Amino acid sequence: MTTPITFDLKPSTQPLSEAERAAATAEPGFGRYFTDHMVTIRYTEGRGWHDATLQPYAPIPLDPATMALHYGQEIFEGLKAYRQPDGSVVTFRPDANARRFQRSARRLGMPELPVETFVEAIDVLVAQDAAWVPSGAGQTLYLRPFMFATEVGLGINRPANEYLFMVIASPAGDYFAGGVKPVSVWLSNEYVRAAPGGTGEAKCAGNYAAAFLAQAEAVRHGCDQVVWLDAVERRFVEEMGSSNLYFVRGSGPDARIYTPELTGTLLPGITRDSLLTIAADLGYPTEEFRITVDDWRRESESGAITEVFACGTASVITPVGSVRSSEGAWTIADGQAGQITLGLREALVDIQTGRAEDRHGWLHRV
Ligand code: PLP
Ligand code: COI
Repeated sequence: MTTPITFDLKPSTQPLSEAERAAATAEPGFGRYFTDHMVTIRYTEGRGWHDATLQPYAPIPLDPATMALHYGQEIFEGLKAYRQPDGSVVTFRPDANARRFQRSARRLGMPELPVETFVEAIDVLVAQDAAWVPSGAGQTLYLRPFMFATEVGLGINRPANEYLFMVIASPAGDYFAGGVKPVSVWLSNEYVRAAPGGTGEAKCAGNYAAAFLAQAEAVRHGCDQVVWLDAVERRFVEEMGSSNLYFVRGSGPDARIYTPELTGTLLPGITRDSLLTIAADLGYPTEEFRITVDDWRRESESGAITEVFACGTASVITPVGSVRSSEGAWTIADGQAGQITLGLREALVDIQTGRAEDRHGWLHRV
């Protein structure tokens, strides 16, 4: 039984002017500007969740011995708010993010925020900063809920007993420069992201900290993004730096759509999950399976694999045009965005932006 949380609303007395906000939302990029407010909720062992506030966006003072800074108990989420044709604002499947946040918390030994509190925290922030939800093509308000250990101390015999949950918001345009331009990927063989039994399916800071070097290696090899292989055999394709992957075999009405199965070492993406449904709605057979690098290469070279794309909240759907590894390089078909990739992208974005019917009840009105 959870006690409902009441938010103490302390709106900013100095929000940005309309002109300043318009400048920030005109060309937002990704994660560069933040709205006027943020949500905070504290957790204390024995007391539970308390002191929920909506307050002006501001730095947070931290004791140097704050446990998260030393041992990395931090988890986060990413979802978006979309402007609808009638001017209203919705979020996309926030309950799914809330449940993933709970699973991440469990894996990191952190307390689980109730789903309804997670969703309400986002609603409170988006309602307050609704003027920040951009309406340009491809523009959204990116929401970043996160939680970290705030207990002060250096012991590691148990998880922390105090936490801070927060939500911040940032107007967003294209995550990858160039919009839906295909990306090139580097298959990481030296570094791995997640081993069985590790934290791969949790959205925790450490997974990303460990990825920067591999991403830099991808760039050194002239590629846009790193693609992770399984940690044990370094043979199976898992996911891209910030997105899940999809493969298309065949074309036209005979196309079949595949995505690596959730083995516990990759992030169960909400976009990935939504696309399994949308692909079926569009009449494509779908399958979750384990694809090897050898198959990816062989089937791309034979033409059996016709399209590959990445999907995620930030990246939406982004075509993969070419692949490079320590053993060689190949392109997917002609290296351009494929018809099925573009069709799925349009179907997903149309639902999110209210241009198509929300048949699955995915939109949450703020
Ligand atoms: N995989 C990783 C490593 C990610 O960071 C993300 C982004 O959140 C995804 C996959 C896609 O997940 P989602 O579709 O829920 O955004
Ligand atoms: C998202 O798509 O929400 C992500 O988490 C990507 C992010 C790590 C920039």
